[in-house]
Amino acid sequence: TPNPRAKFLLQELVKSLHDYVSKTGLTFEEWEYAIDFLTRTGHKCTDTRQEFILLSDALGVSMLVDAVNHRDREGATQTTVLGPFYVGEHKVTAHGTDISPNNQTGERMFVQSRVTDLKGKPLAGVPVDVWHADDDGFYDSQKPNYDEVGASARARFITDADGRFFFRTILPCSYPIPTDGPVGEMIMQTKRHPMRPAHVHFLVNAKGYEPLITHVFMDGDKYLDSDVVFGVKDDLVAKVEPRNDPAMPDGSKANGQWHLMTYEFHLKPG
Ligand code: DHB
Ligand code: FE
Repeated sequence: TPNPRAKFLLQELVKSLHDYVSKTGLTFEEWEYAIDFLTRTGHKCTDTRQEFILLSDALGVSMLVDAVNHRDREGATQTTVLGPFYVGEHKVTAHGTDISPNNQTGERMFVQSRVTDLKGKPLAGVPVDVWHADDDGFYDSQKPNYDEVGASARARFITDADGRFFFRTILPCSYPIPTDGPVGEMIMQTKRHPMRPAHVHFLVNAKGYEPLITHVFMDGDKYLDSDVVFGVKDDLVAKVEPRNDPAMPDGSKANGQWHLMTYEFHLKPG
């Protein structure tokens, strides 16, 4: 069946590509390089790695698609890229749980948060998926023994009657996106760095509201202004304060210095 929207999208794409070739005077060699680059990008795609998404992210296309689909969100928490390390619905976990594995190094962090509507009314019973990288910059799902070891620094919390949720973990750190493929080659050739500033991913999905896919970034990270996937928005940067109190906000014992991250999520009806 004819699809007018598909036809329109293709016409515009072809126009842009033709413009590009004319404007740059693209050589045969350059054209062959482009074909080879895209072929290798396809070959790098596996069950656990989608190199085309990485390409879209590193070219700023993903964030632009996000922006044109999220206009008119005054007062709502900003969105950003999902990233390749979301593995589907996480396991429901009790508030206050330490989600970092026992043997893990890293500075301690307590995260306290709340989910509300645009008027500040708390939303109860809302599932919130959380995931972040470890102290070496890797997600649990990137480890070869993930299937045996299972989830770490990855959990689902259900907001309480006041819309709150809280948990313990370690401070995430900045990390490079995978550089062993064509996208890495592109980043190196154009003298960019492959780093993402430290962040925690949040996916908040409340009935009757737009799903919120976002990160909270750590204030002070040196890559905030040059995120390789252009994912940073000012409102998503949180102050993460060092604390020396002997107990964390839920009364659990602190064992030396720790960090407090406080952030509220405001959902748009939809
Ligand atoms: C993330 C990682 C990526 O490689 C990417 O392209 C986008 C996001 C991330 O972990 O947040
Ligand atoms: Fe990430």
